[in-house]
Amino acid sequence: MTLTLDDLSTRWPATARIVNAVTSIWPEHARYAGKSFAARDAAMMQTTETLAEAALVLTGEHLLRYAEHYRWTCDQLREEELFFHREGRYRLSTFAEADAEVYSDAGYMEKYMDGLLISQILWVNHAASCHFFLTETSPFLAPDQRYLEIGPGHGLMMYLALRDFDLASATAWGLSAVSIDQTRAALAKLGYDNCDFAVQNVMDARAGSKPYGLVVLSEVLEHLEDPKSVMAPIRDLVARDGHVFINVPINSPSPDHLYLMETPDDARALLIDTGFEILREGFFATQGTALERALRNRVSVSACMLARPV
Ligand SMILES: C[S@@+](CC[C@H](N)C(=O)[O-])C[C@H]1O[C@@H](n2cnc3c(N)ncnc32)[C@H](O)[C@@H]1O
Repeated sequence: MTLTLDDLSTRWPATARIVNAVTSIWPEHARYAGKSFAARDAAMMQTTETLAEAALVLTGEHLLRYAEHYRWTCDQLREEELFFHREGRYRLSTFAEADAEVYSDAGYMEKYMDGLLISQILWVNHAASCHFFLTETSPFLAPDQRYLEIGPGHGLMMYLALRDFDLASATAWGLSAVSIDQTRAALAKLGYDNCDFAVQNVMDARAGSKPYGLVVLSEVLEHLEDPKSVMAPIRDLVARDGHVFINVPINSPSPDHLYLMETPDDARALLIDTGFEILREGFFATQGTALERALRNRVSVSACMLARPV
């Protein structure tokens, strides 16, 4: 069964509201959205609708502004894609450059995070990553886990964990007070005001006295110059019977992506080379493109992996 945009408004009203807001200011995007939703089954649509309901709580009366910021974010990404396909590399290579161009620019970050929030619903690879996180992680989680998410950004993945997993506590580390305040405010709006927050650069991660049952890094490791160097300290943060979930994009140029992974093996190596065993993996290409074709054409692929320390 393929889903059309017309089906959305009757069966998935929150998703439809977001799609309608985006296409009202950007009609040409309807074709992209149609393809993106045609690639989802009913279970993934249920996760999409959950994400859309949460996103609507966060956007409140400003949905159209978020839609504008989504369009702006897609414009930034298109520029990066042109560079990537011309030069075969990401434009920036150092954290200092990304900090100066992106992280330290509050106006830029606001638009970018708003855009990424909407992308969780509109991009099939992002919705599929959240769906994978929910369905593939929970069977491995013992009850009453301590949860740590590094770089939660808009907070939607942390929201899914708080809503669906049996957690004893939830902690978020963000790069700056501004980013952590945004996540805190988002989770409070979504009904979760009992999380711990810390400004903590993952590059300086050290094991605390009590390890975590689940450590999540979603779309964070590609922002580092040398992500493997942080996976060893992260391994020390994970309980012996705990797990790590990572989501990293392959061939995915973005204003603040530094570490290029070109194949699924490049993504797997982040875990295998640093003392983890991969238990579950899923690769989700933009627009539902078949994996082989996406890799051949260097189309962006989200790589999701659940692993345990060995
Ligand atoms: C693209 S956002 C990802 C947001 C969300 N986790 C998601 O999956 O959509 C990247 C996040 O990584 C964070 N980040 C980047 N470098 C970091 C670092 N060195 N330490 C901690 N967080 C970092 C940024 O602040 C931002 O919140």
